[in-house]
Amino acid sequence: MMAKRGRFITFEGGEGTGKSTHARRLAQTLEKRGISAIVTREPGGSPGAEEIRSLLVKGEPGRWDVLTETLMLYAARRDHVERTIKPALAKGQWVICDRFVDSSYAYQGAGRGLDRETVRRIETIAIDDFKPDFTIVLDLPPEKGLARTAGRGTAETRFESFDAGFHARMRKAFLDIARRAPERCIVIDADKDMDDVAAAIFAAVKGRFKLR
Ligand code: TMP
Repeated sequence: MMAKRGRFITFEGGEGTGKSTHARRLAQTLEKRGISAIVTREPGGSPGAEEIRSLLVKGEPGRWDVLTETLMLYAARRDHVERTIKPALAKGQWVICDRFVDSSYAYQGAGRGLDRETVRRIETIAIDDFKPDFTIVLDLPPEKGLARTAGRGTAETRFESFDAGFHARMRKAFLDIARRAPERCIVIDADKDMDDVAAAIFAAVKGRFKLR
């Protein structure tokens, strides 16, 4: 018998909004209910895409022009979709992904000024019409998010080094994306206690997929 296709859920939002933590927590909550779930991330999520990630997240902000950067992100995304996401969904697993296409519209589009239509054309070539079933946008004032990431001590600071205007444009971009696609997206206020945010996320997922 063929497994029922799993669901594809993405987390989106600016730096330090809690996406990785909440992606993990959501997967654990689903597992407790007997739903097999994997957590993955972008850029990355497959061996090849993780190699491309290291080129993107390290170094000077101006290291790549925005079109090169977008092509690299979508090369990584295609590999991730084909080698990790689609095979898991086909096995009936749920896939919880920390960032996906909306990050490209927000960061490369609104943040770095690449027009939407160019992002969309690259997207069509790379992944055709593959889309998340549900997207959770974690919303937080950028200064609070950046304060959270400042203590992390990683080398992956390239995008955090863009100026304050960049992060403000991105926050607005995520909210605009959610407003334009209300059937796919929900915005959750991340400026709250972690457990409250996790509860709001699970309530949204439960409602969206009619889980008992
Ligand atoms: P992370 O910090 O959430 O792991 O993501 C790494 C960086 O990559 C983050 O600063 C945002 C950036 N990014 C983009 O600029 N465009 C994209 O499409 C994705 C997926 C990430």
